[in-house]
Amino acid sequence: MRFAVIGGTGLIGSQVVEDLNAAGHEAVPHSKSTGADVISGRGLTEAVAGADVVVNLTNSPTFDEASLDFFRTSMENLLAAARDGGVGHFVILSIVGVDQVPELAYYRAKVLQEDILTAGPIPYSIVRATQFMDFVDAVLSWTADGDTVRLPATPVQPIASADVARAVAEVAAGAPLGGIRNVAGPEIFPLDELGRITLSRKGDSRTVVTDPTAGMFAVVKGDVLTDPRARLAPTRYADWLS
Ligand SMILES: NC(=O)c1ccc[n+]([C@@H]2O[C@H](COP(=O)([O-])OP(=O)(O)OC[C@H]3O[C@@H](n4cnc5c(N)ncnc54)[C@H](OP(=O)(O)O)[C@@H]3O)[C@@H](O)[C@H]2O)c1
Repeated sequence: MRFAVIGGTGLIGSQVVEDLNAAGHEAVPHSKSTGADVISGRGLTEAVAGADVVVNLTNSPTFDEASLDFFRTSMENLLAAARDGGVGHFVILSIVGVDQVPELAYYRAKVLQEDILTAGPIPYSIVRATQFMDFVDAVLSWTADGDTVRLPATPVQPIASADVARAVAEVAAGAPLGGIRNVAGPEIFPLDELGRITLSRKGDSRTVVTDPTAGMFAVVKGDVLTDPRARLAPTRYADWLS
């Protein structure tokens, strides 16, 4: 099968391209830097031409209110190009429990992305992942101040980006779900504890202070899968760290 992976130069996109090609498919990465701009629409017709499946793994440059415009415009442009190109399956990557956190502009933007896809003309699949292990450092940096990092005890179930990519590639190569596939890592940690484990494993002497009001995850009730039948990815956090 032929895949156009939009955002195919990014963290997840580049691994999805590798996984699909390793499975014998023909997956081509596209992004702003390769000449396909989801905001201006430039190069999208060419990017999706001949593709059976479009996988959209672009991300907004900011997490604020502007992310709503990014996901609205990018989805409208991409869906129009995919429809005109006769694409039969459109896949996006969203966030577990995304519709439960209206306080965050970025989460509202991802819900908007899902809504535009489900209301659109193309058979679709939505993969929702928990927080990537690769982003734990960024989460720590948001509330770091001198010798301390403040974090709430929000339960999180981090997943390795390679496991996310594998799940996206598997869904993209299958029949359209017309719904959502949730994916998460194998372990649940309170976020403050995850911060302590991370700093200690890196020999970082900063202290994690538990603060229920600190950072983005203060308003997230839990970034975990509650469905006991959910499929869990294999990579454990300690193994990923080493
Ligand atoms: N972080 C998490 O824990 C998490 C959890 C669940 C879901 N997600 C979702 O995962 C998705 C992928 O994230 P990621 O971390 O892999 O992203 P990333 O590494 O930041 O990559 C973003 C990609 O988007 C492309 N891009 C940005 N603006 C563009 C534009 N105007 N036109 C075309 N391409 C553009 C970039 O291409 P250039 O480099 O060429 O600009 C790059 O290929 C996101 O939609 C995010 O919401 C993330």
